[in-house]
Amino acid sequence: MRKIFQYWTDTYFLFARDLEKEMEFDYRIPGGYSLIIIKSEKDVNLDSLCSLWAKAYHSSKNSLIVKNRVKSLIRRGDVCFCVLFQGKAVGMAWSGGKKAIQEIDFAQILKREKLAALGHHDFVDEEHRGHGFQKILSLSRVNYAKKNGFTKYYVFVGVKNAASLKNLAKVFNEYKIVFHLKIDIPLRTFNFFPGANRENWALCQENNNLRQACE
Ligand SMILES: CC(C)(COP(=O)(O)OP(=O)(O)OC[C@H]1O[C@@H](n2cnc3c(N)ncnc32)[C@H](O)[C@@H]1OP(=O)(O)O)[C@@H](O)C(=O)NCCC(=O)NCCS
Repeated sequence: MRKIFQYWTDTYFLFARDLEKEMEFDYRIPGGYSLIIIKSEKDVNLDSLCSLWAKAYHSSKNSLIVKNRVKSLIRRGDVCFCVLFQGKAVGMAWSGGKKAIQEIDFAQILKREKLAALGHHDFVDEEHRGHGFQKILSLSRVNYAKKNGFTKYYVFVGVKNAASLKNLAKVFNEYKIVFHLKIDIPLRTFNFFPGANRENWALCQENNNLRQACE
């Protein structure tokens, strides 16, 4: 029987970058690899992208469920930045706009933002880590969002994810810590962000608690 009341808590670093400011997008893709931007199902070998997704989210064993999930993100209008190696998808980072923000629970803190883009579902296959792909993919999606009229870019990272924090601190200018409480009752979900108004933005470059979390 379904529980009547369930709750979850989590803490994130929320990174932001102002796309109206000038910025450099200097990155080089290592030899043997290529980067593609997937805007429609035709842009990629869907089976390859789905097997990378299945690797990233171990629970996704059923290939039909994975395929439907990946297709639903593309249909929602999200774009996938994908690293290919010998024709196989080995890294991905997704990017969405208003619809993504509306549908992702912890992104509800951004629901009143106008022209904001959100990065989500970053993953690099273990065998291909260490080349800085998350940084490359993130720079690429931020650049793409800027070209497509977005004025702000956001991404959430779990406080214990040192590798991701290190990479994204190089791409984004500022961050703040966000506490998320999600409560489910039948037919309704509530998202709360305790203390959100009290948290200030801090610069990623400063010597601060972000640096400690990266160690
Ligand atoms: C996060 C992730 C995409 C990064 O992959 P990547 O781009 O290949 O990044 P790297 O492995 O090169 O690591 C980047 C940095 O973190 C460091 N790092 C890697 N693992 C680390 C760990 N466990 N603890 C501390 N630092 C770590 C690396 O040394 C490197 O540091 P440097 O820039 O100073 O050299 C990859 O680890 C991954 O797919 N993880 C699982 C999914 C995930 O966490 N997604 C992000 C959700 S926000």
